[in-house]
Formats: sequence, structure tokens, C-alpha cells
Amino acid sequence: MKQNLILIGFMGAGKTSVGEAYAKASGRPLLDTDQLIEAEAGMSISDIFALQGEPAFRRAETAVLERLLAETDNAVISVGGGLPLLELNRALLKQLGCVVFLRVQPETVLKRLEGDTTRPLLQGEQVEKRVRELLAYRNPLYMEAAHQVADVDGKTPEQLASELAAYDDAKGMEE
Ligand code: S3P
Repeated sequence: MKQNLILIGFMGAGKTSVGEAYAKASGRPLLDTDQLIEAEAGMSISDIFALQGEPAFRRAETAVLERLLAETDNAVISVGGGLPLLELNRALLKQLGCVVFLRVQPETVLKRLEGDTTRPLLQGEQVEKRVRELLAYRNPLYMEAAHQVADVDGKTPEQLASELAAYDDAKGMEE
């Protein structure tokens, strides 16, 4: 298995901010699958959803994972909230390194993403209902994909970064 540290979890769980804190603390590079997909497509995730559809975005997620598996080691990798939903992607994630599920409560997601316009799945009416339904469906799949779980509510990115050090085989973190 490779020695990447991979963060999975729902939108608003803090994958990016915790990833940034941990990358800084451990001196390792941070990669983000959403950013890699946007750079390759030359457009935002919202535009990919609108112009090409969600299935095309999901195919791009699998392609990015395969590329990371071929090319990347010793990095901190934050992945889009829906990436672990596909069984194939869960298998690829497990080979890519230590997978940590950042588990978040719906109330925290709603607070953090209030007014957000960048997540196509959370636009429109009845956002709270959708967040609760998506979380109920996805949490068991995140559990299946993960080697470790960290509850994020009420914690700072730095606190969570310290928790991650305990899970990380390749930690270069200064004590
Ligand atoms: C998605 C999560 C988003 C992004 C896309 C779809 C999802 O990433 O990949 O909007 O299906 O949960 P973040 O989890 O980084 O917000």
C-alpha cells in the first residue's frame, strides 16, 4: 500500500481545511481531486455538472484516482464528497494509502455551507432534507471505504491534524 493520507467525507466536513493543516504540519504536499478535475477540464465543478452531467464528473473522479495511484506517494489527498460512493473507487482508495473518514453532523454541514453556490448537489429548495438524506445514505459507504474515522464537530483543523498524525504511517510530523 502506498503511504498517502487520504481524507474522505461529506461536503463541509473540512477535508480541504484539515488537509491544509495536516499538509503544513507534516511538510507533505496537498492534492485535491476536485481541483485536479477542474484544472484538467478547464472549468468549475458547477459547469462540469451543468454542461456534461454528473456521470461525466464521476468518470473524471475515477480517472483522477487511477492517475494518483500510478503517480503519487507520500502526499495528503483530499477527495470530493461523492468519490467514495462507487465500489471501484473505494477499492482504489484503499490501495492509495491510509483513508480517514471525517465524519460530520448535518447541523455542522448546514451551518458551514449556508449560502454556498459552488456545490451543485446542494442548490435549490429543501437543502436540509437533502443533506440529511444524503448523509444517511453515504455514511455507511464512507465507513466501508475508511481505515479510520475522526469526528469533526467542534474541532479546529489543527486539532484534527494532530489526530491524523496518529493514523499516518508515513508521518514526517515534527513532534
Ligand atoms: C460532491 C462534493 C464536492 C464536489 C461535487 C460533488 C458530492 O466536493 O466533488 O460538488 O457529491 O458530495 P467537496 O466534498 O469537496 O465539497
